[in-house]
Amino acid sequence: MAVERTLSIIKPDAVAKNVIGEIYSRFEKAGLKIVAARMMHLTEEQAGEFYAVHKERPFYGDLVSFMTSGPVIVQALEGENAIATHRDVMGATNPAEAAPGTIRADFATSIDENACHGSDAPETAAQEIEFFFGADGVCPRTR
Ligand code: PPS
Repeated sequence: MAVERTLSIIKPDAVAKNVIGEIYSRFEKAGLKIVAARMMHLTEEQAGEFYAVHKERPFYGDLVSFMTSGPVIVQALEGENAIATHRDVMGATNPAEAAPGTIRADFATSIDENACHGSDAPETAAQEIEFFFGADGVCPRTR
């Protein structure tokens, strides 16, 4: 299986619940290694650009407003099959449908405030990692 990278965001609701360490622990237990990380308070411009693909959706304004409501932790994760593994650890977008033991089942409040984001494909993962960390902001893990 190929080693991949994915972009992960712990959203403002989960940061406010003080569960960053708990979420990092779940990444590590799933075999995902943190290869870049930063805490930041997104501007409206940054959140709007990041979610531009959803610009025409009815929830776009609320999503940008939520993502700028407090600090987030952004990380790049590396591991075998990292994109799918990370999505399994997060659970379904709507926490009401998320499997027990997933991050969203345990920490999300609603589909609007759903604790975390993860890339959905290798192309978007590469774009999203570059968006937050630039072309050389990731530290490859050799062990
Ligand atoms: S889709 O249909 O596959 O594009 O949707 P999805 O990628 O699952 O979700 C898009 C992002 O928008 C956030 N969001 C909502 N989605 C659906 N309905 C409502 N009401 C809604 N509000 C916010 C959802 O959490 C996804 O955000 P990210 O950060 O990508 O997980």
